[in-house]
Amino acid sequence: MALPIILTGPMGSGKSSVGRLLAERLGYDFVDLDALLVEQTGKSINRIFAEEGETAFRERETELLASLTGRERMVLATGGGAVIREQNRRLLHALGLVANLTADVSELAQRLAQADDRPLLQGKQPLEARIAGIMAEREPFYADADIRIDTTGKTLEDVTAQLLVFYTERCIPKP
Ligand code: S3P
Repeated sequence: MALPIILTGPMGSGKSSVGRLLAERLGYDFVDLDALLVEQTGKSINRIFAEEGETAFRERETELLASLTGRERMVLATGGGAVIREQNRRLLHALGLVANLTADVSELAQRLAQADDRPLLQGKQPLEARIAGIMAEREPFYADADIRIDTTGKTLEDVTAQLLVFYTERCIPKP
């Protein structure tokens, strides 16, 4: 069976860009959890947070993850907070192989400096401090993965190649 590969990691770690390229290389579907939520609700992530609140957003995330059960040939990019709920972490591992992408806080801050579509990064606190806080809170959840890749200083190609090697060794039977 062509086991899905699921990307977790903080905002700016490259889940969507790496996921898209990895899916292309594998000939798998690329599924982006946030994009699906936007499509499903007809609202931006900012609007879902503003109008419904974070708890409702998390509920939607869980429902969507559960609805993907049984999918094959898929690379799934999750939102950075999808790992917070234990129920979600169980769903992710049941779906397929979990790969966590990470990067140094300063590099994440650089990548996110112009982003205005991340409700959790809005507010007065400096960006680096906000990201560092989120990373510290979530570290045990991000660590709950089959592989972790530090993307600091790496290109999209480097990270995708590393994931391809890992996935091929684990999931594609040798002739
Ligand atoms: C979030 C990350 C975002 C999005 C939402 C909440 C988080 O996804 O799901 O803004 O809690 O870290 P990305 O990691 O794709 O930016």
